Amino acid sequence: MSDKFIITPNGPLKGDVHISGAKNAVLPVLAATLLTGQQCLVQNVPNLSDVEAMCGLLESLGAGTRWDAVAGNLTVCAEGLDKHEAAYEWVGKLRASFLIIGPMLARLGRAKVPLPGGCAIGSRPVDLHLKGLAALGAEIEHAHGFISASASKLTGARIYLDFPSVGATESIMMAASLAQGQTILENCAVEPEIVDLANFLNAAGADIRGAGTDTVKINGTQTLRGVTHSVIPDRIEAGTFMVAAALTRGDIRLTNVMADHLKPVTAKLKEVNVSVAETEDGLRVFHDPCAEVIAADIKTMPYPGFPTDMQALFMSLMATAAGTSIITETVFENRFMQVGELKRMGAEIKIESRSAVIEGVAQLAGAQVNASDLRAGAALMLAALNAHGKTELHGAAHVDRGYCALDTRLNALGACVQRIS
Ligand code: UD1
Repeated sequence: MSDKFIITPNGPLKGDVHISGAKNAVLPVLAATLLTGQQCLVQNVPNLSDVEAMCGLLESLGAGTRWDAVAGNLTVCAEGLDKHEAAYEWVGKLRASFLIIGPMLARLGRAKVPLPGGCAIGSRPVDLHLKGLAALGAEIEHAHGFISASASKLTGARIYLDFPSVGATESIMMAASLAQGQTILENCAVEPEIVDLANFLNAAGADIRGAGTDTVKINGTQTLRGVTHSVIPDRIEAGTFMVAAALTRGDIRLTNVMADHLKPVTAKLKEVNVSVAETEDGLRVFHDPCAEVIAADIKTMPYPGFPTDMQALFMSLMATAAGTSIITETVFENRFMQVGELKRMGAEIKIESRSAVIEGVAQLAGAQVNASDLRAGAALMLAALNAHGKTELHGAAHVDRGYCALDTRLNALGACVQRIS
């Protein structure tokens, strides 16, 4: 059974926090290490159960991994990549594992991968990944919960994505790196994690231009080489600590952050009267006691819009803001799983189609709640920091998927979060 957290409110959070490497950057980079038979060293790797699961998956395919979790260094050597079929046991653990399909196809000419698991936030199809691989010349079959892709050779193509899917952009970029000729990928995702993956691939010898814009050109090469790459800081983990400062009316300094990646979060915090200032080595988020936190409307959008991964966290903040906020989720169809649990804590929230209408209350009350997914779990933990009385948060495993020791790091800032195994 998963651990649980007991959270006792303990006043404003204050102090410094060092932000980890990005989960959503390291997972695609680890999938991309399968594109070369040479050793890759990935640095600034966060100590997450999702990373552990990804390593297990790579090893099950014949790759060797060595992870120094304390130093954040992870070596992968996929010289021995010899299996073209991924086991459900691994892929069922995290959705990002599906990203191995492009690299396996490009390296081995075939790949058989189960449909992915991951957070229960919507149906999360993979049709855009598959359309892209098919456009590069792969034959795709779907049977018994597995997707099989095969191609004697991949050929560059012009691909237009119906929606700027992060995962599909990554899948296609990886496969096209070893295709023959040029791929032009249009209406693709522009998230910082896409740029990080392109930087990794280019350092390994790929020729990718335009990552971070909606048109990416990939000139295929025959082989890629081993590389050392340090992943970017996690903008969602940074955003989580920023909301923690806002929610507890505290004062937190963040280091190892890219302020540019946090613009949509910073803008929204400023709009609700929370102060955010750039410092020499990061950001400071603090509360001005004369300015009450006020309601705001939020609509999630692909980057550089407001991130869907921050939606639940902001809902916790808006739950005790002055006034009525409307949060509209446009990216995933089922991402209000935290609402029922926040209501158990006394929040006043109504869901109307893809929007949640939140009437701010003076204070939430501690309760027994359940983390249904990663960000919902973090959102409930933050809500509990400022509630009246104790909260028992079940489903710690969801939180551990995407945060390195969130409980311990919040405690270092003055919180009182106890983990019960
Ligand atoms: C990634 C992030 C996740 C984040 C999301 C959106 C990783 C490991 N995860 O997920 O934290 O919330 O981006 O910023 O990086 N879709 C399709 N068909 C597809 C692929 C996606 O319809 O083939 C839909 C999805 O169901 C969803 C939307 O497109 O509604 C966005 O999904 P996508 O951008 O692909 O997100 P992920 O890569 O899964």
